[in-house]
Amino acid sequence: MTEITALKDGLLADVAAADSVDAVEQLRVGALGKSGVVTALLKTLGAMTPEERQLRGPVIHDLRESVTAAIVGRKAALEQAALDARLATERLDMTLPAQETPQGSIHPVSQVMDELAEIFADLGFAVATGPEIEDDWRNFTALNIPETHPARAMHDTFYFPDRDSEGRAMLLRTHTSPVQIRTMMSQEPPIRIIAPGRVYRSDSDATHTPMFHQIEGLVIDKGITLGHLKWTLETFLKAFFERDDIVLRLRPSYFPFTEPSVEIDVGYTMEKGQRVIGGSGDAENGGWMEVLGSGMVHRRVIANCGLDPDEWQGFAFGTGVDRLAMLKYGMNDLRAFFDGDQRWLRHYGFSAFDVPTLSGGVGA
Ligand code: DAH
Repeated sequence: MTEITALKDGLLADVAAADSVDAVEQLRVGALGKSGVVTALLKTLGAMTPEERQLRGPVIHDLRESVTAAIVGRKAALEQAALDARLATERLDMTLPAQETPQGSIHPVSQVMDELAEIFADLGFAVATGPEIEDDWRNFTALNIPETHPARAMHDTFYFPDRDSEGRAMLLRTHTSPVQIRTMMSQEPPIRIIAPGRVYRSDSDATHTPMFHQIEGLVIDKGITLGHLKWTLETFLKAFFERDDIVLRLRPSYFPFTEPSVEIDVGYTMEKGQRVIGGSGDAENGGWMEVLGSGMVHRRVIANCGLDPDEWQGFAFGTGVDRLAMLKYGMNDLRAFFDGDQRWLRHYGFSAFDVPTLSGGVGA
């Protein structure tokens, strides 16, 4: 019995002193391997008398368990130490110059947003922003979207479980229109803004992604008419598509926050089997494509923001930035926009030096 205790103490001391994973492995083979000393002791149990086995059995089993536990523990400690040492030596110095030319490019969505900002800045519009986490008052109620409107249904809107301190339901904004509300409530008219940004809807297929990009426009001033709206959007579309033969068709429509509401279609013609923006949609080989929602800002929306609708009028418009990019640069699958595929980005991306300017051509 005492020799077993001595064997155990010796083995445990050896394991504790082992200074590499290999050394521990050798000890394991020597003790617990096929012809190891502990294995040999275990084998003697079979030839013992029941009384002897009752006496020596627990001691031998305890030996095996103690040695096994010590080996596992020592191995883990040594592996951890080796990993720590490696992490310490393999530290990356991010301030070192890159060994290869950077591969980045400007995403078409960013490029188109810059183009839009450039075009509208030239027309006297400032860029406004709002948070992507909105409350349901700004996203819906203030925009004259009643509680029962289908856009409020759970399947379209991502809601947060909790309300804000004012008891309003919180959500991921479903459009950029709440920026209209934020701007009218924080700025004195006259107002001329565009608001590009991310929006969210619970929707996903080849032409819908749960996150996409919109741009909103808002003008509030005195004596604003539908004529101003048409001129502004025509001027914008001509600059954006870099063509003078852009033909607009205003189609009566419905949005809760505008009255009257108009949908803007732009004419396209077929060139080599491709739809190309430009020309009258009524041409023999032409058609119309819907590109923008718009209208005169509803009196109720102006009043909701604390302004007098008899004094102030205006127009608003909104559209999808991703869709504008697809139309202008000829991509056909929206999902590819957000895949992060290097080949797609190299093909459709823009050089960082390709800053859009009106004089240089916004899409150059
Ligand atoms: N918010 C609308 C949408 O998400 C787009 C829109 C339509 C914005 C008409 C406007 C507008 O400002 O006047 O579909």
